[in-house]
Amino acid sequence: MAGGLSDRAGKTYKGKPPLLIQGAMKVETSHIVEQLDALEEYRLGEWYFASGNYHGVPLAVSRTQWGLANAAATTALAMEFFHPCAVINQGTAGAHDPSLKNFDIVIGRETVNISAWKSHFRARGEGVDEEALDKLGVFAYDKEARRFTQEVCHKADEELFRTALALRNSYKKGSVTEGVIGTADSWNCQVDRVLFLHDFYGTAVEEMEGDAVAQICQTYDVPFLTIRVVSNTVFAGDVDWDLAVGAALQEYVLAVAEAYMKKR
Ligand code: 5AD
Repeated sequence: MAGGLSDRAGKTYKGKPPLLIQGAMKVETSHIVEQLDALEEYRLGEWYFASGNYHGVPLAVSRTQWGLANAAATTALAMEFFHPCAVINQGTAGAHDPSLKNFDIVIGRETVNISAWKSHFRARGEGVDEEALDKLGVFAYDKEARRFTQEVCHKADEELFRTALALRNSYKKGSVTEGVIGTADSWNCQVDRVLFLHDFYGTAVEEMEGDAVAQICQTYDVPFLTIRVVSNTVFAGDVDWDLAVGAALQEYVLAVAEAYMKKR
């Protein structure tokens, strides 16, 4: 945790409802934080948050840390503290679609928890089949049904999604496509497993936060979108991820946030 940040848990943010942008790591958020006017930094629990203005638009930033539990906890904390008008979860991802390359951006039409499944029964000694699965989904509050309902996929907010896709021609570092974003606390490096997930869930990429954030946003009835940039692909072989993609995506996300907020 950065030194000198006051602990604001329990107090309330005073500005206009901002658009909240999340990223798991410093390399996925610092480019945005550096561009905020009237920057304020906070600690809620042990997590880092910031707020400020970008081209006159109020933004909040959350560094979630890796994984679903951190993503869900920081989203709920941000809901109670910032009361954001919308949430964009963004960051790096691994390709499930063999045609995707590093620096390609995927706008999440929907998210899916790719570790939410039930395996088919097998008796002792019958072995392990990692593909014999039924999709299970996870629970989020449904305001029409007025209860928590189990859904395999969580759809992005239409307006956020359209705004993000409309800027696709401005990006010069790779392609911008729409697709399904898969979330789990796992990192798949086996090509056949990745191809199975791509086929089974229809995922374009995998990461570790998006669907957990979508669940909490649906529960709070706040518009939500995931945007991811490919930093690694098993289809290129056993190579390390490229974290330089982080800043390229943050530049794109800032443009999306500005366009969305100025339309409101
Ligand atoms: N699998 C899972 N998560 C990935 N991330 C980047 N590439 C992958 C991958 N292939 C993202 C996650 C997490 C961190 C490991 O980077 O969202 O925050």
